[in-house]
Amino acid sequence: MFNVKGIRSGYGEVTVLHGLDFEVKHEIYAILGANGAGKSTLMKTIAKVLPLKSGELQFKDEDVTHLTPYQLAERGLAYVPQEQNIFPELTVRENLSIGGLVGKRSKQERMEEIIELFPDIAERINQKAGSLSGGEAQMVAVGRALMQDPVMILLDEPTAGLAPKYVDGFFRKIKEIHEKKGVSIMVAEQNAAKAMEIADRIMLLSLGTIFLIDDCNNVDIGKVKEGYRI
Ligand SMILES: Nc1ncnc2c1ncn2[C@@H]1O[C@H](COP(=O)(O)OP(=O)(O)OP(=O)(O)O)[C@@H](O)[C@H]1O
Ligand SMILES: [Mg+2]
Repeated sequence: MFNVKGIRSGYGEVTVLHGLDFEVKHEIYAILGANGAGKSTLMKTIAKVLPLKSGELQFKDEDVTHLTPYQLAERGLAYVPQEQNIFPELTVRENLSIGGLVGKRSKQERMEEIIELFPDIAERINQKAGSLSGGEAQMVAVGRALMQDPVMILLDEPTAGLAPKYVDGFFRKIKEIHEKKGVSIMVAEQNAAKAMEIADRIMLLSLGTIFLIDDCNNVDIGKVKEGYRI
């Protein structure tokens, strides 16, 4: 699905990611690591929001190294940033509608599916997105991404800032999106234990390099802990 070779990226002169190689299949792939490990930088880089310093990206067997974020979206990649992932001045309906600019099926049909998945946002559909709670806003952000009918979604810490009692429910939704809609998911998450409950595989980033890639059925917990200590 996504094939990443030797990517380096960062901000200005500063290099944050130091040559990462990995492959994401049709699965839930969690990107773990402590604050500042480079999770968001990785998400931005493969969504092409942040320029590559070097390396290659292949999406569905096509070289997408030089494509724009919009061209990637047209090919089925949806990206939900960690912050500022909704338009607060627009209504929930308008936010969802923007996602529907990509893709072919009728917007109405897609919007009905999103509301079925996140019934809580139905009654807020005409409300400004900026007036929603943190959890509702995240549903809208994920809903907007799903409106693109993506084959893969990049979710950057979707449960950050959510009250603990909502976190499990949100993770279950992510699993449901993968299983029922057949969408591959790459999710950045600080909480390794939570991520491993739903992920098929994990990548642990430490100081902008890959510390560990492992199968969730068989994770070396000691090694995960070590990756967070550095
Ligand atoms: N816009 C920016 N300009 C300069 N440096 C940045 C910028 N954004 C992030 N960095 C730096 O890049 C490094 C990696 O940050 P990144 O946001 O990718 O980490 P993260 O793993 O997503 O952390 P968190 O769990 O806190 O979201 C950090 O050292 C950070 O200070
Ligand atoms: Mg981050």
